[in-house]
Amino acid sequence: MKKKVVSTSSPQETIEFGKRFAAGLKPGTVLCLEGQLGSGKTTFIKGLAEGLGLKHPSQVKSPTFVLMHIYETKMPLYHFDCYRLNSLEELENIGFQDFVNDPHAISCVEWAEKAGDLIPEGARHIRFEILSATRRRIAVS
Ligand SMILES: Nc1ncnc2c1ncn2[C@@H]1O[C@H](COP(=O)(O)OP(=O)(O)OP(=O)(O)O)[C@@H](O)[C@H]1O
Ligand SMILES: [Mg+2]
Repeated sequence: MKKKVVSTSSPQETIEFGKRFAAGLKPGTVLCLEGQLGSGKTTFIKGLAEGLGLKHPSQVKSPTFVLMHIYETKMPLYHFDCYRLNSLEELENIGFQDFVNDPHAISCVEWAEKAGDLIPEGARHIRFEILSATRRRIAVS
């Protein structure tokens, strides 16, 4: 898969990047979003959801007390946040593997590095880096 690196200068630009990225997404894609707290992972997913037709993208927030959210877009969008994950068992218990192997859906996994081997082969990785208060580097591979 082609590697792509962009830098954005505002949350809105990251949202716009997510929207454009959504246009080329095929059902069954798993996106692993990696990068420190506040680096823009959720902001990107907001744009992605909007690009997939979500009517109220403001509902896209990191799942804080649950591990996942499901958004109804033109294909189901599963949004996981593994930051507070204590064990892989917690993911297994909610059926993580069934979700990320759903050929009709898009899955986004924040802090995917914590999901270890449960991430399917062929998942794409998007790495977020904080360059300054308002700039983010986003690398897709
Ligand atoms: N260029 C930018 N792109 C995205 N967010 C930006 C940018 N510049 C500033 N920000 C700010 O950085 C924060 C990014 O928050 P966001 O929730 O998207 O991060 P996150 O990577 O999901 O963090 P967490 O790991 O806590 O879930 C927001 O407060 C946003 O306003
Ligand atoms: Mg987040």
